[in-house]
Amino acid sequence: MRPEAMPRHLRSLMDLSPRELKRVLELARTVKRNPAAYHGRLAGRSFALVFSKQSTRTRVSFEVGIAQLGGHSLFLPAGGQTGAQMGRGETPADTARVLSRYVQGIIVRWHEHSTIEELAAASSVPVVNALSDRYHPCQALADAQTLEERFGSLRGLKLVFVGPANNVSNSLMLAGPRAGFDVTVACPADLVPEPEVLRRAMSDAAEHGTRIALSHDPAEAVVGANAIYTDTWVSMGQEAEAEALRKKLAGFRVDAALMSRAAPNAVFMHCLPAHRGEEVTDEVLDGPHSIVLDEAENRLHAQKALLLLLCGVEPWQTPGSA
Ligand code: CP
Ligand code: NVA
Repeated sequence: MRPEAMPRHLRSLMDLSPRELKRVLELARTVKRNPAAYHGRLAGRSFALVFSKQSTRTRVSFEVGIAQLGGHSLFLPAGGQTGAQMGRGETPADTARVLSRYVQGIIVRWHEHSTIEELAAASSVPVVNALSDRYHPCQALADAQTLEERFGSLRGLKLVFVGPANNVSNSLMLAGPRAGFDVTVACPADLVPEPEVLRRAMSDAAEHGTRIALSHDPAEAVVGANAIYTDTWVSMGQEAEAEALRKKLAGFRVDAALMSRAAPNAVFMHCLPAHRGEEVTDEVLDGPHSIVLDEAENRLHAQKALLLLLCGVEPWQTPGSA
């Protein structure tokens, strides 16, 4: 591949500078406000969605978003008798090289993050991580958009993730320094973020003037929080450890008592799907502080903006922003 032909990918939020992340959010706001202005902008382009794990929001928001932009999506589940060959051993590199001859973007949800890296390394079209065991960058983009809508500005907000460190908390830790908000992960001592991700998030935070913190005490961590975020205790692929995880996380449920310790106007966030009564009570999930449906909706707008930028249809730099 010639260097000038190198595509832009979103493997994790490390692929975006703070300026670029803010550009995604700015375009996401515009796309949401005036979707008709973007009709047809991806006309003639096709996108392969290669998924080895279940999905409701990610699949639907990408497929609907691509259709709204005039593009075409092909859903390629990787399992079963009729799935993509990557599910039975075709290498990610071979898959990427072949798909690059047909489509203008590859959106991939896969267990091992390394597979997404391998696809991106061989692809001559943009590769977007639609969730791996390590990161969920599209979720964090939508979450940042949702927080910005709610609070007007992200600068100085404190988000506390309560639960096991996972792909969602990893992406939030990388989003915070780039977008300007502080992130605390309140997790059991043996379910902490991977050292490599934590180190990177902390060094990004030091560079960009935000804070990343770890806590093992949710009640103490959420004091003054503007957002309390949680996710399933058992991520896809961890089913064999489910009982052990539930035991370790018994003290990490988000309930009304925990919410009451946060700032008065604090919001409750969850990437969904939720396990009602497990990581969050119905009262909180359905209550007045919950913005989970806005997060789900913003997947659509944020991903439309992302695709327009990665495909070069919209500029990364707006006039006057250089
Ligand atoms: N939040 C999220 O990624 O949901 P799905 O697993 O339904 O796509
Ligand atoms: N951490 C969860 C997120 C689901 C959207 C998982 O990986 O299953």
